[in-house]
Amino acid sequence: MTKVLVSDPIDKAGIDILSHVAQVDQRTGLSEQELIGIIGDYDGLMIRSGTQVTAAVIAAASRLKIIGRAGVGVDNVDVPAATQRGVLVVNSPEGNTIAAAEHALAMMLSLSRHVPQAHAGMRAGRWDRKKFVGNELYKKTLGVVGLGKIGSHVARVAKAMGMDVIAYDPFIAADRAQKMQVRLTQLDELFRKADYVTLHIPRTKDTENLVNAELLRTMKPGARIVNCARGGVVDEAAIAEAVENGVIAGAGLDVFASEPLAEDSPLRTVERGLVLTPHLGASTEEAQENVAIDVAEQIRDVLLGLPARSAVNIPGLSAEIMERLKPHLQLAETLGLLVSQLSGGQVQELELRLQGEFASHPSQPLVIAALKGLLGAVLGDSINYVNASLEAEARGIQVIEVKDESSRDFAGGSLQLKTKGDQGTRSVIGAVFAGGELRITSIDEYPVNVSPSRHMLFTRHRDMPGIIGHLGSLLGEHNVNIASMQVGRRIVRGDAVMVLSIDDPVPTTVLETIKAVNGIQEAHPVTL
Ligand code: NAD
Ligand code: MLT
Repeated sequence: MTKVLVSDPIDKAGIDILSHVAQVDQRTGLSEQELIGIIGDYDGLMIRSGTQVTAAVIAAASRLKIIGRAGVGVDNVDVPAATQRGVLVVNSPEGNTIAAAEHALAMMLSLSRHVPQAHAGMRAGRWDRKKFVGNELYKKTLGVVGLGKIGSHVARVAKAMGMDVIAYDPFIAADRAQKMQVRLTQLDELFRKADYVTLHIPRTKDTENLVNAELLRTMKPGARIVNCARGGVVDEAAIAEAVENGVIAGAGLDVFASEPLAEDSPLRTVERGLVLTPHLGASTEEAQENVAIDVAEQIRDVLLGLPARSAVNIPGLSAEIMERLKPHLQLAETLGLLVSQLSGGQVQELELRLQGEFASHPSQPLVIAALKGLLGAVLGDSINYVNASLEAEARGIQVIEVKDESSRDFAGGSLQLKTKGDQGTRSVIGAVFAGGELRITSIDEYPVNVSPSRHMLFTRHRDMPGIIGHLGSLLGEHNVNIASMQVGRRIVRGDAVMVLSIDDPVPTTVLETIKAVNGIQEAHPVTL
């Protein structure tokens, strides 16, 4: 029975989707030890930001295929540990964009018009009209740090409200910013010029405490800063001090270095100018439904053997690519399996030659698929699209890609895998024929034309009378049924290869007898 654990509160729409393909257990508020105790029973895990999926949790997750993060940030998942174990991590990159952007705008408006403080005064029976004179956003300068999905939406709305928008994002092309009528600046200039700064960056080693006391001191005294991105990108003590001492006019914070925010955090005691919310950026009914559906669909698909659309740890292998290149990926994996079994021993180098039309496809997915086959032949199901590259790297396998668009051997092009290892070099070539049919077209430079089948036998032998008959009789005597047979040779009575598709695997004793036949140089059983 397929089982999915939901360990944070998730919208019912997501649970309903998962329930069609799995038993869904909802258990929130688990400690790390409690999660470690039960995770071994589950094929899928669905979380929000509450659950910490540590390396220890992943090590205990013997059946786990997928972790679905209903949201954007995967900083509560040990993604490298998941990758190493071949566990796919997916998220919902767009489901809560609008919600988070609107929360940042709500912060800006609340700060400039003192909405929370005025409301608290009303609740306390006061009528403070003079105390809460605010500022308009109109014609003020907004500095957006991180012009990604959320930052761009904030910028668009701010433009519509009459703000002048500048941005700092070293990874965004200038013409993209220009189209939004946003001018890109350096970080120091942005902090000096902006009346409002809003942060929309991930927390990385480069952004950790990006906003510190020194940077805050460069801001205008009337400036306000908003962080609805990630805790830890601002120095909280420095913000509390800067607002308290009037270095800046205010700050709106939704996210904190450690959540929930400590009861004794200096942020909680600042009298004026601070608006704090408990990580509510994505907390709209719409966003929670969006992310739950988005991630539940991906978990469902992966458990059904289909690709996920937003995989965090398979770069370059989107669902769209997997669908479009399906037969090409199958060919790369099949050739990887084949060349691995022909090579035997340790492979040190894998060369992929993408020829003709093959060269026009993105090569990274084909490399991943070829490595999955190459390593999967030895390591079995523990190798998948998620960890194939990592495992190859760990084994010191060097990957070389060569593209040759001019080759016209087959209409749809061809793919050659060449290995170098402690037992010499091997080469296999394959092509995708009309209707997505896979063909092996060459082995060790000998031309063949064979459809891959589950069990096969490959030999290298002297091209001389009697060999083929001898082999056929040997297999027949041991009840191994031959479905098809092909010989590839370059010169008459020279060396040749033979490829047999058989219905059953060749027993080890029979293989040894075959290897001893006069004229047979090598024999390799292959399972695809
Ligand atoms: P995104 O990936 O679309 O955008 C992030 C942008 O930051 C990118 O354009 C990137 O180039 C830029 N960037 C990265 N490093 C940078 C650096 N050192 N300096 C400047 N720019 C840098 O992501 P998004 O969906 O817009 O999300 C932005 C942030 O908001 C993320 O951290 C996400 O986790 C967070 N988020 C918070 C909430 C919430 O509830 N408060 C909700 C959703 C998203
Ligand atoms: C996110 O990364 O999506 C946000 O932090 C929202 C959340 O999960 O609450």
